[in-house]
Amino acid sequence: MATTFCLINQKGGCGKSSTCFHLAGAFAELGLKVLLLDMDPQGSLSQVFLGPEYVESLNNKQTMAMLFDECSFFDSHDRLFNPTKVTGITICPANQTLARFNVPEPENTGMSQFAVRDFVEQQSGFDIVLIDCPPNLYRCSWTAMVAADYVIIPVPPEDFGTQGLRAVHQCIQQARRLNPGLRRLGHLVTRCDSRLLVHQLYERKLREMYKEIVLDTVIPEASAFKVALTRRSPVQLNEPQSKAAKLTLCLAHEILERIDVNERKQRIA
Ligand SMILES: Nc1ncnc2c1ncn2[C@@H]1O[C@H](COP(=O)(O)OP(=O)(O)OP(=O)(O)O)[C@@H](O)[C@H]1O
Ligand SMILES: [Mg+2]
Repeated sequence: MATTFCLINQKGGCGKSSTCFHLAGAFAELGLKVLLLDMDPQGSLSQVFLGPEYVESLNNKQTMAMLFDECSFFDSHDRLFNPTKVTGITICPANQTLARFNVPEPENTGMSQFAVRDFVEQQSGFDIVLIDCPPNLYRCSWTAMVAADYVIIPVPPEDFGTQGLRAVHQCIQQARRLNPGLRRLGHLVTRCDSRLLVHQLYERKLREMYKEIVLDTVIPEASAFKVALTRRSPVQLNEPQSKAAKLTLCLAHEILERIDVNERKQRIA
């Protein structure tokens, strides 16, 4: 069985899709088989892997919208799986067809709350599933949390933003009613400029507040990430010797270590 992570934050532009993209590259570099689920109707992750024209042309039986569409319940999921040019990475894409299903108050949507979980449970042959979520806590993010083993919360150290984070934590708590095994892998400090005092202070505050639920690895604001995105190639492949690539690999190792420690703890309990 694969380990499933969702990247959640209702703050836009905090690096959810970018982290999914580069982290998938690092996991693939380690020889792991990665399945990416794009649960964001903006389809950013899908577009960077598959190209905007192709992604925009997909109908709702070829995107993650299919999981919520009653007319598609009995259809095969085969057409959802798109190989990418990176060996070891497969993506199930999203586009605007997902938008009409991304409703608020998702806890009132009955059994379809388990749609992504059921889908993930049917998959084999993958080591890691990464779910990219939109900048809200509606149905797409909710069903991702119901499906996931772990939540990763990318946080840029810009403003204090604890109110936004509080809503994320409340939502995780609520999702645990349906998915008691859901754990917070951690906040991931992203887009950090360590030369800025305000970033240093924010990071320190975050670590004081959330202690071990903050990943040690910090992802800096770096042009190598942007350049790699433009070339549609994760930084690991595009510029393997860059600091950005090395830190992304550190992040992949830290994540694997954290899930390993958790699994050992569970076995002891
Ligand atoms: N560490 C980084 N260094 C430089 N640029 C970054 C970094 N992380 C993200 N970006 C850039 O910031 C922009 C927003 O990032 P991204 O799309 O990953 O955020 P997001 O959280 O997925 O946004 P949304 O909430 O809209 O889905 C992108 O143009 C991306 O290239
Ligand atoms: Mg995004």
